[in-house]
Amino acid sequence: MRKFLTTTAVAAIMIGSLAGGSAVRAAESVEVLHWWTSGGEAAALDVLKKDLESKGISWTDMPVAGGGGTEAMTVLRARVTSGNAPTAVQMLGFDILDWAKEGSLGNLDEIAGKEGWDKVIPAALQKFSKYDGHWIAAPVNVHSTNWMWINKAALDKAGGKEPQNWDELVALLDNFKAQGITPIAAGGQPWQDATLFDAVVLSLGTDFYKAAFIDLDPAALGGDKMKTAFERMTKLRSYVDDNFSGRDWNLASAMVIEGKAGVQFMGDWAKGEFVKAKKVPGTDFVCMRYPETQGSVTFNSDQFAMFKVAADKVPAQMQMAAAIESPTFQSAFNVVKGSAPARTDVSNEAFDACGKKAIADLADADKNGKLFGSMAHGHANPAAVKNAIYDVVTREFNGELTADEAVKELPAAVAAAQ
Ligand code: GAL
Repeated sequence: MRKFLTTTAVAAIMIGSLAGGSAVRAAESVEVLHWWTSGGEAAALDVLKKDLESKGISWTDMPVAGGGGTEAMTVLRARVTSGNAPTAVQMLGFDILDWAKEGSLGNLDEIAGKEGWDKVIPAALQKFSKYDGHWIAAPVNVHSTNWMWINKAALDKAGGKEPQNWDELVALLDNFKAQGITPIAAGGQPWQDATLFDAVVLSLGTDFYKAAFIDLDPAALGGDKMKTAFERMTKLRSYVDDNFSGRDWNLASAMVIEGKAGVQFMGDWAKGEFVKAKKVPGTDFVCMRYPETQGSVTFNSDQFAMFKVAADKVPAQMQMAAAIESPTFQSAFNVVKGSAPARTDVSNEAFDACGKKAIADLADADKNGKLFGSMAHGHANPAAVKNAIYDVVTREFNGELTADEAVKELPAAVAAAQ
């Protein structure tokens, strides 16, 4: 865990003590815990830091590396237990509600009411931004997990056609192998395996995804379709390289960027890496929905949960919340991050082709009842259930369980975690 003060923060503290008003200066600073440490993520975070600094709010950074935020949530628990909660914490879905239930979060109703958040933030996000009718978090974006990021030159060599179903996907992966590149750039970490599993399950039907991951129906969790999902995971595993275990997701993105691998299955934060590397959609890479999930979206929204802090720190916290929801910021940040805005009224003009597609897909899926919370990223179930699913998925993906064994273990593991 690293912790450091930005130069502006140091300057603010110095000015504060010179003026004998450290309490006053505290009102103008925020301490933010997050896991945005990759190149693309850090570039996006910088948009927020600069925005706040332009408003006179200094930023104390608390980065906790580890994609998906598992490590960040452990560090957060330790901070809160020692009575020292950060001002704002990047958080996903059910984790936000869990902290709200514990009574640890502040109340954003005043700023949300003044700025009309109710009307512009979609209900699917509000479900996690509000607890007991009160605003507790400020959503910064909407990501989704059922994406593929393909190296364009490799796809062209393979004939240029985007795979539309499982058989075409397998044929493309075989072609990548024949080209002498790693077909799938993967990072063997439980949350990454689970991110792929989101897409594989969704491709077997939206009703199936909902029954299995939203409703936790034992028949879906332990049925024939789930067995097919695990069999497909085994097949996909045969296309990763020998060094995939433990690799960070952004290093897997780099393999596709550099043409060493054909495709990465990853949420659209991966696009932040392509953008950072100055790669252009349609020219250098192709973004497409995982085959047979077109029209459906498994989403996760990064929100900043606002913790209960000393009264003198609340004004800066509220300014941070307001800054996050400003339409100009929403556009500037999400263009860099690879996500769609958390508000429905932000113009798509500044977004590239993949960003425009993300925004349009999201609106369509929402309208058609095909928008579902991502299991892998904490928007389908509380952490205990999510971790139980991670465990079975990872063991199966690594060959410790057969598909037959996994499909028996999954409903049992989920039942035990509830
Ligand atoms: C997700 C998060 C994204 C991205 C990703 C990898 O959970 O929503 O913003 O940061 O993890 O770190």
